[in-house]
Amino acid sequence: MCGIVAAVSTANVLPILMEGLKRLEYRGYDSAGVALVQAPGRLGRAREVGKVAALERQLSGAALSGMAGVAHTRWATHGEPSQDNAHPHVSGRIAVVHNGIIENHQALRAELIADGYGFTSQTDTEVVAHLVERELRRCGDLLAAVEATVARLDGAYALGVIDADRPDRVIGARHGSPLVVGIGEQGSYLGSDPLALLPVTDRFVYLEDGDLVEATREGCVVHGLDASGQRITVVREVFRYEHDDQAVGKGEFEHYMLKEIQEQPVAVANALEGRLGSDRVLVEAFGPQARQLLGATRQIHLVACGTSYHAALVARYWIEELAGIACQVEIASEYRYREVATPPGTLLLTLSQSGETADTLAALRHARKRGGDRYVGVLSICNVPGSSLVRESDLSLMTHAGPEIGVASTKAFTTQLTALMLVTLALRQLHGGEEELTAKLVHRLRYLPTLLGDTLQLEPDVAALAKGFVNYRHTLFLGRGAQMPIALEGALKLKEISYIHAEAYAAGELKHGPLALIDGNMPVVALAPMDGVLEKLKSNLQEVRARGGRLLAFADPESGLEAEEGLTVVKVPGCCRFLAPIVYTVPLQLLAYHVAVARETDVDQPRNLAKSVTVE
Ligand code: G6P
Repeated sequence: MCGIVAAVSTANVLPILMEGLKRLEYRGYDSAGVALVQAPGRLGRAREVGKVAALERQLSGAALSGMAGVAHTRWATHGEPSQDNAHPHVSGRIAVVHNGIIENHQALRAELIADGYGFTSQTDTEVVAHLVERELRRCGDLLAAVEATVARLDGAYALGVIDADRPDRVIGARHGSPLVVGIGEQGSYLGSDPLALLPVTDRFVYLEDGDLVEATREGCVVHGLDASGQRITVVREVFRYEHDDQAVGKGEFEHYMLKEIQEQPVAVANALEGRLGSDRVLVEAFGPQARQLLGATRQIHLVACGTSYHAALVARYWIEELAGIACQVEIASEYRYREVATPPGTLLLTLSQSGETADTLAALRHARKRGGDRYVGVLSICNVPGSSLVRESDLSLMTHAGPEIGVASTKAFTTQLTALMLVTLALRQLHGGEEELTAKLVHRLRYLPTLLGDTLQLEPDVAALAKGFVNYRHTLFLGRGAQMPIALEGALKLKEISYIHAEAYAAGELKHGPLALIDGNMPVVALAPMDGVLEKLKSNLQEVRARGGRLLAFADPESGLEAEEGLTVVKVPGCCRFLAPIVYTVPLQLLAYHVAVARETDVDQPRNLAKSVTVE
């Protein structure tokens, strides 16, 4: 949701900024821009509508360079994607990039207009540029000017600010939107995500809400807030980024999404690593407080958005059946605004691949505020160490999926499910669940990466079938039990990247409405593993066939479903019913991917979306 890169160095920073923007493009890609201090007193700026490549074309041949600069890739919130609305925004000597939303921008705009400032954009960000400019005139110091400015802002923001008269520094500020500082050999850098800065450093400081940072060629100084809200210099830990930078490239693959689908056996193996004993889950490997927290849990609120929400829906089936603990699943943007009944002993379990989703973070903070003895604590399942969610949780379980760049989430989802199964089994162990089934599931989990590898062999078959979907305008996905959320996820993948309208239903609900939609133009995708509701599902599929619907079933080899007129069956490797949601996700990802490729859409960066949604 908008990407920020900023740099101050002993050499020209433009290449660093442009590479950083490309790496952040997953966060937003409707316009991009860069501003540099070209010489003391002289700012250079370029902005372009569309992707970073368009900005790059504009810059080729332009003599833009400088040793301090800020850059931005935008996902529009205030004002359409246009050159005027693209960041950086400039006021006098100041250039600003911003991620987030300034909620009081209208009042500030009116105040600044009354003070003689003119506006050239419809963005909320431009008020920040003018405020810093005005404060700078008053106090003469860039850091103090940014400090005075942020004191006026309501809402969420990460900011990068440069001053044409100070080519030796960049100021950053964080409140509610992610910002990291990269510490390099030749300079210092700011980024919305460490990925942006991996070519220049692997050492990062994760800023906290309220922090201001002064970055210079020599290093950075962080100014935080003490308990009484006074500004103080703080020392924040420097983290080394664990992932190999190769993980950020596309390698031999045409799209990140396909690479990330194919990486799932390894990603899931990483999610399991060090967490399985011979016949139990190693709860102690989750962290020292895990045993106490999970042991004290009497019920669970699972809260997430998007694909992570679908993982939560699957986990409800697992946790209730395998651990006997009541689970409520809710979309974070709903949870944060209501008074949820919360009996004592409730564990808040938040799921987020990025750890920066604004609604999920707000749900966590909402729970903290309600506090008291209602919650035993917050457990988060996340893919980004050091993210806001991880920092604010009592306990975090990292999914170790590695960087996921494709906007449509794939390996982040299957590793979340893997982590959720680990949590389920840990709860089962701590709450006296019978041991034989636990041991069996631990053995099955160990075999899961191989099973996913076998399932990926279906790709040529699924790719061939995908061609048949290209001209459909709607698709219906059906599943029962823990496959129902997988049907939701399959529908989401298809609509996100191919723009085909797709809906998912619990197959038992078919007769209560969606059956009316079935005809020869409505393909129906069904998930049919071996489970207790297979026969019920088969009856639902008969209801579809009797109305001329075209069925594609992903089915267990033992399911008894065989291809016939109007029914295509793809045999998915046999697997235990508890792990089937993870396995059956794979063919649906491949289906969505190949339909999108056949429709020639932008697979990795679908229109209007962003990977990390850090605004409400
Ligand atoms: C965006 C992404 C989705 C993701 C959702 C929640 O909408 O495009 O892929 O599932 O945010 O993100 P999170 O990082 O919280 O899992």
